Amino acid sequence: MTTRTLVAPEDIDRIDLADPSTFVEHDLTEVWRHLRQHDPVHWQPESARGPGFWVVTKHADFNAVCRDTTNFTSERGNVLDTLLQQADSAGGRMLVVTDGPRHVKLRKLLLKAFAPRALHVVTERLKAVTRRLVGEAVERGETDFAKEVAAHIPLATICDLLAVPEEDRMDILALTKQTISSESADHTAMDGWMAKNQLLLYFADLARHRKDTPHADVVAMLAGGEIDGLPLSEDEIILNCYNLILGGDETSRLSMIGAVEAFATHPGQWRALRDGEVTVRTAVEEVLRWTSPTQHFGRTATHDTVVGGQAVAAGEIVTVWSVSANRDESVFELPYTFDLARSPNNHVAFGYGPHFCLGAYLARIEVTTLLETLRELVSTVELRGPAERIYSTSLTGLSSLPVALVPT
Ligand code: HEM
Repeated sequence: MTTRTLVAPEDIDRIDLADPSTFVEHDLTEVWRHLRQHDPVHWQPESARGPGFWVVTKHADFNAVCRDTTNFTSERGNVLDTLLQQADSAGGRMLVVTDGPRHVKLRKLLLKAFAPRALHVVTERLKAVTRRLVGEAVERGETDFAKEVAAHIPLATICDLLAVPEEDRMDILALTKQTISSESADHTAMDGWMAKNQLLLYFADLARHRKDTPHADVVAMLAGGEIDGLPLSEDEIILNCYNLILGGDETSRLSMIGAVEAFATHPGQWRALRDGEVTVRTAVEEVLRWTSPTQHFGRTATHDTVVGGQAVAAGEIVTVWSVSANRDESVFELPYTFDLARSPNNHVAFGYGPHFCLGAYLARIEVTTLLETLRELVSTVELRGPAERIYSTSLTGLSSLPVALVPT
């Protein structure tokens, strides 16, 4: 792994938060700490990548922006990649970039697929897949946990939810990865765009097929769904499938990989979990806080407003950083301590307000299942070789994590 250099707070204006390499090359811990204390709503100036934008780092301001649907919109994008273009082609049609009453109705429709009863079958399969993959990794002795275990778990789950045929799943995984992050610095916006188009075409085909055949999965539900008495357009069906696969795969995967890395580097905490001294419930929340896989998202101001005492003008971009809000010392005691017994744990890993993660319940089941399986099958987790970080501005975490999972 490229060793990350610690950026001193005074160098904040020399780093570009819209550049994926920033997060591979630099450790921003001191920058976030400094910003929370001295400049909690910081202005990152314009660059060749696009206009300047606000950088919100404190927990309270993060929540204030997320719940303020009067002064902010998601329809012009919700991550820097689209916000800097000042448009999202899916705005008003894909759940996460839709505002107002249409968002509420679309969310209600999709929520049916995430009801605990609907998730029962998916959960049972998830448990079996997790157990098989962790079991095989334990038998092998050494494994790249990111590539050989975590890569397959959330994708299998979301594909079960969407009833994606088994033979298409490896292609879907490759395309999903290319869409928002990358394992290499050579990844271009064009690669991401091509991958996104291929995914959309794939779901267009699937939805067309499902419309004509009896199915009970999410794709079929969207294809047969109505809002205000009208069916969803083909675009809406496709884009919302895309939202689920994109929202549901890499995020959960990164939190699982981050969990295993944290267990290897905090053996005392791992032992406490393994020996039942802490509950899996509090451990899952701490893993989510610690890893904060969606490191930022954002909004565009629709009116002149104020965030954390800072005037924000209509049209300006406001980004909120969960990697910082989840280390806010005014909310979390010893925020830089990985404490699996932490309670309360009001982390914002799933966002806040009307766009609060639709898949949070499922994501928690996924991480819970992983932790329970590790507890049962593994005695120690040891790092073996260098880890690799993903190239992304919106997500953070590892694309490769060689470890030994030593059996109990
Ligand atoms: C929304 C994070 C897992 C589907 C969000 C948002 C965050 C987030 C921060 C809010 C974005 C915004 O306000 O602009 C995460 C994390 C996950 C995870 C950290 C795993 C650890 C999942 C899963 C699914 C999913 C498993 C689905 C299978 C969605 C959807 C939205 C969303 C559809 C849009 C909700 C809306 O706009 O109403 N997620 N997510 N996520 N997430 Fe997740």
